[in-house]
Amino acid sequence: MKEVIIGGVGKYAPSKIITNDQLSEIIETSDEWIYSRTGIKQRHVSIGEDTSYMASEAAKMALENANIRSIDIDLIVVATCTPDMYTPSTACIVQSIIGANNSVAFDISAACSGFIYGLDVAKSLMKSNGYNNALVIGAENLSKSVDWEDRSTCVLFGDGAGAVVLSKSDNVGLISSFCKSEGEKYKCITIEGNDVDSPFVENKVIKSSKLKMNGNEVFKFATSTIVNSINKVLNENNLNLDDIDYIIPHQANVRIIDYAAKKLKVSVDKFYMNIEEYGNTSAASIPIALSEMWKKKLIKKGNKIILVGFGAGLTYGATLINWAI
Ligand code: UT7
Repeated sequence: MKEVIIGGVGKYAPSKIITNDQLSEIIETSDEWIYSRTGIKQRHVSIGEDTSYMASEAAKMALENANIRSIDIDLIVVATCTPDMYTPSTACIVQSIIGANNSVAFDISAACSGFIYGLDVAKSLMKSNGYNNALVIGAENLSKSVDWEDRSTCVLFGDGAGAVVLSKSDNVGLISSFCKSEGEKYKCITIEGNDVDSPFVENKVIKSSKLKMNGNEVFKFATSTIVNSINKVLNENNLNLDDIDYIIPHQANVRIIDYAAKKLKVSVDKFYMNIEEYGNTSAASIPIALSEMWKKKLIKKGNKIILVGFGAGLTYGATLINWAI
């Protein structure tokens, strides 16, 4: 068995929902502004669930869906930019919670592209190291990292997690993918870490642990990147958009997706969107969408799907999938 398929999907979203109208009670904003500029109506917000908890819940659902026991998992990759702790990794905490005692576990930091990066890394390791089953999870607790007094960012994000089980197979599942980074633009979106502070530091730099984003710059990057990434996977596989059943983009802004549909001359219906309900859940947005589509029976065996992500780093990437279950 030389190929890798997605054998199961799962998701978790906190039950606490905050609507745009509720936000307008704590900051100067409105449902009209948020919905017309982003397509967001509400977001799920943690009331204490941390990233590892949400990731574990999504993982348990994916394992059940794939009919695989946690002890049969060889690799756990968690994509997150909002880990529980600097160390250990969120993946190690997930390993402990779900009892996946036979796996190697680590995190990937590629923000909203993290799930795409995670699939690529997991597939490579499965092929090179002989792992049979892997969990790739995108999980975020952005509500602990946004500045709730900054209306230009706090209205955009939500919390949640999505997970897939990858398994070795004779069938082709993950057909092809690519990941790319543009580190020279790293200042466009940041959540800074600890200050460099010790008895030996003369000029202390005060950092901010809150998310900061240059929205306009990222918007320009996102619109060009989403189109170029889709075209790249199509060209590399000698396919055109008629061969693709669905595109699942990172859910950052409806206007980015509308732009991509127009530019690619394809109906916007080809793009799955759920940003209205969840907001931007960064690394979790693509696997949450995938899990939701599976549950709604929108995707069927043999469907060709493109996953496309972009975000802090700046990072981007896309994956072409043959749905094999
Ligand atoms: O997931 C990682 C990738 N992230 C993205 O892809 C995000 C990309 N960027 C975007 O989606 C958009 O740039 C935003 C949604 C962040 C912002 O939309 P925009 O249409 O670019 O708005 P803007 O930043 O240009 O702001 C327009 C106006 C400003 O007021 P003035 O200066 O024109 O008077 C803002 O102060 O809207 C104001 N504004 C708000 N007003 C009401 C900003 N945030 C809000 C708000 N409510 N929440």
